[in-house]
Amino acid sequence: MDKVRYGIVGLGNQGTYYLKLLLAGKVTDGEVSAVCDINPDKIKNAISLGFNGATYSDYKEMVNSGKVDAILVEVPHYFHPEISIYGLEHGVHVLCDKPAGVYTKQVKEMNAVADKSDKLFGLMFNQRTDWHYRVVKDMIANGELGDIKRINWIITNWFRTQAYYNSSAWRATWKGEGGGVLLNQCPHQLDLIQWVTGMMPSKIHAFCRMGKWHDIEVEDDVTAYLEYANGATGVFITTTGEGAGTNRLEIVGTLGKIVVEDDKVIHTKLTEKDSDIIKNNPNGFCNPATTPYEVKGDGNNLQHLGILLNFTAAILGKEKLFVSGQEGINGVEIMDGMLLSAFLGKAVNIPIDDDLYLEELNKRIATSADKTVKEVIFDTSSSFAGAKSK
Ligand SMILES: NC(=O)c1ccc[n+]([C@@H]2O[C@H](COP(=O)([O-])OP(=O)(O)OC[C@H]3O[C@@H](n4cnc5c(N)ncnc54)[C@H](O)[C@@H]3O)[C@@H](O)[C@H]2O)c1
Repeated sequence: MDKVRYGIVGLGNQGTYYLKLLLAGKVTDGEVSAVCDINPDKIKNAISLGFNGATYSDYKEMVNSGKVDAILVEVPHYFHPEISIYGLEHGVHVLCDKPAGVYTKQVKEMNAVADKSDKLFGLMFNQRTDWHYRVVKDMIANGELGDIKRINWIITNWFRTQAYYNSSAWRATWKGEGGGVLLNQCPHQLDLIQWVTGMMPSKIHAFCRMGKWHDIEVEDDVTAYLEYANGATGVFITTTGEGAGTNRLEIVGTLGKIVVEDDKVIHTKLTEKDSDIIKNNPNGFCNPATTPYEVKGDGNNLQHLGILLNFTAAILGKEKLFVSGQEGINGVEIMDGMLLSAFLGKAVNIPIDDDLYLEELNKRIATSADKTVKEVIFDTSSSFAGAKSK
């Protein structure tokens, strides 16, 4: 195989974005040979953009057509596991967009299939390509922060208007999307927060406000308190309702802290462990010596294109897969944990009780409203706000 033939399932905002990248020849060694959408208007739009390959309304037909080596799963989140499982079980590689799924039970089923498959399963965690996070991950792995004590992320620059929520019937409903800002925008940060630190929270107490800033039934404002097995704590704050949003990740260890904000990584280094200073320094008001400096990385931030290039190269045996699909469960555990805590009004342990979560979700699905909307395809290229340390 010289070129990987892609089929795209779902031609809304995101599927159309990847279609354009593929049609523009940006994905070296990759091409788009088929597309699929249940909405004929979306297929017409793909053709108007210059696509002239095979078109389908049924993803199963596309997978079995022999025309595709790999599929991109770009449909509402509930269908990610179902379509990924079908692809993996029917001989195509699968690159699924985030989140891996809506609830842990379905993601675990998907992972069990992926574990047995000889096809590649990847996830579109494009923000892992951002040098800021890669460099922080390396620093933590090299012990430069010492033992991690606190992990705080304020990610409130995911601003969205009511027009955004009105653009698709599935969006921001329990039955169509299964959640709000945690499910749609924050899968990136909920992936990074554990990928960068190598730590999963063991307990979460979260406060999720439903439709606080928009006319929607799911959460658009979240404050969560996290606890880790080593005693570290953290706070995760997010919303889609703040015009002057922030993106600030602060990780504190016994040897100092790292802050990622405003396109910069600042490392404030201690010369000795603060835990040792606390124990041994006789001066009650001692000010530990710190040396803050700006960390420089390789500057690369290829985002979605980077993931597409790597997935293609991995299929062709030229590179190692950068984001394994099975890792998607971690972020889903955290987002479901936050929602479960809010549903129950108390702290919950991680991993969560899969059955209890599904039971609580189903209660909300049962009363979820139908939305009638005029579907819109937005140009998403300028929308990846959380991708920048704005
Ligand atoms: N990685 C990122 O930065 C990023 C950004 C935006 C969206 N996404 C993800 O992409 C996915 C799609 O989001 P979107 O904004 O493009 O949504 P969208 O509503 O614009 O598009 C979804 C498309 O899927 C189609 N569809 C639904 N069910 C289908 C099926 N069974 N078979 C074929 N087509 C089907 C719909 O007709 C629609 O055209 C979501 O899971 C979202 O989280 C990822």
